[in-house]
Amino acid sequence: MKRRLTGGLMSTGTSKAYWAERALPSVFKHNLLGRYIPQFGGMTGSRDKQVVYLDGYAGEGRYENGDSGSAEIAMKVASKHRSQHQLHWTCFFTEADAKSVAKLEQVADIYRRQGVDARVHHGDVDGVLRQVVSTAVGKPLFLFLDPCGLVLPYERLVGTLAARRRAGNWPPTEFLMNFSMDAVRRLGGNARSAKGLEASSLRFDQVMGGRWWREYFPAEREWDPDAAEKVAVAYAQRLGAATGMLVRSVPVFRAPHHRGAVYHLVFGTWRQHGLWVFGDTVARARDAWWQEVELADEAHDPNTLFTAASLLRPDPKEVTEAAIPVIAKNLEQLLAQGRRPFRLVDHTLNVFGDYYGQVTEPAVRAAVKKLHAEAKTPTTGVSKGKEKIRDMVVVPAR
Ligand SMILES: C[S@@+](CC[C@H](N)C(=O)[O-])C[C@H]1O[C@@H](n2cnc3c(N)ncnc32)[C@H](O)[C@@H]1O
Repeated sequence: MKRRLTGGLMSTGTSKAYWAERALPSVFKHNLLGRYIPQFGGMTGSRDKQVVYLDGYAGEGRYENGDSGSAEIAMKVASKHRSQHQLHWTCFFTEADAKSVAKLEQVADIYRRQGVDARVHHGDVDGVLRQVVSTAVGKPLFLFLDPCGLVLPYERLVGTLAARRRAGNWPPTEFLMNFSMDAVRRLGGNARSAKGLEASSLRFDQVMGGRWWREYFPAEREWDPDAAEKVAVAYAQRLGAATGMLVRSVPVFRAPHHRGAVYHLVFGTWRQHGLWVFGDTVARARDAWWQEVELADEAHDPNTLFTAASLLRPDPKEVTEAAIPVIAKNLEQLLAQGRRPFRLVDHTLNVFGDYYGQVTEPAVRAAVKKLHAEAKTPTTGVSKGKEKIRDMVVVPAR
């Protein structure tokens, strides 16, 4: 298989310490992945009972302390969906490092024995993309791209996604991608330095889809501490515009007091349902991340009454209480604009507003109930039968 690995300033592999135990950013990443992909499978795979999945930078599958890495998380989901819902996941895992592949194969073997279709490839993710896409013809496809450095070249990514687009957006395609902010900061510094390596900047041009990112790092002006964030936001916008997807980017931090994100998780979908569930899942994963931060703090200083994390952590109840009137206002505006009934999920970003990814969906139900109590909608906020909150139709008051 052709090997064309990330060059330039970035390391492509992980250090030995990486696989000893899960670092904090990965707690968030794995929590999000582990909560989202079962829902992706459930929502999109129920029709034909098939889903295709690619973990393009799979790593070892499992940490030395026994925690699951991204690959094992997917295999667990695949195994559960197979036994409980007769839903078949075809899972591709690519990994460039031979030692990591050997470990990953051992983990995959466990799940193959449970009937999981786990295909491990040693080599560059680019080398298996074609096979993944041809396997996924007519089937839902989820791409998880989690490199340590730079991700696939922009044209390759956009081309792969664009080729999957169909009228009616079926079968669905979604991706979750690690966009390294460390890489952006390092390459930004490289680009504005007289001693910078042009080859590294050229390589980054390919990943970013042009030279545009360099404008955020002008040599003649002072270093803008927010430049990397702006680049991440612009990258997500460009990806959205180029693919027609709904693209959201979520910052992930090394520690609560850190200002700059270590990476962004960039998510793309053509489905409004995907966007809704992703925002809800981000809020839940964020909460799990805080819990882990508090546990780590307690372990570090068992005699403390209040850990640093507990003082920094926004109280989820307070955040939800603050969100409810804001979301109610958003709903009121949507009703006023359209003057006709609307389904919540069709207006995900307008419904949640600034609270997208901050609060979970029960906040929306509470907001509908608030509007109902104020006689602004006959919609009660109580689901009919098994109706999900996102599928609820909000009706204007007469
Ligand atoms: C951040 S680690 C993956 C962590 C894993 N996704 C998880 O969450 O458990 C990135 C992995 O990508 C591998 N890698 C780097 N470049 C690659 C490439 N071009 N194709 C496939 N794998 C690559 C590295 O060897 C490393 O194991």
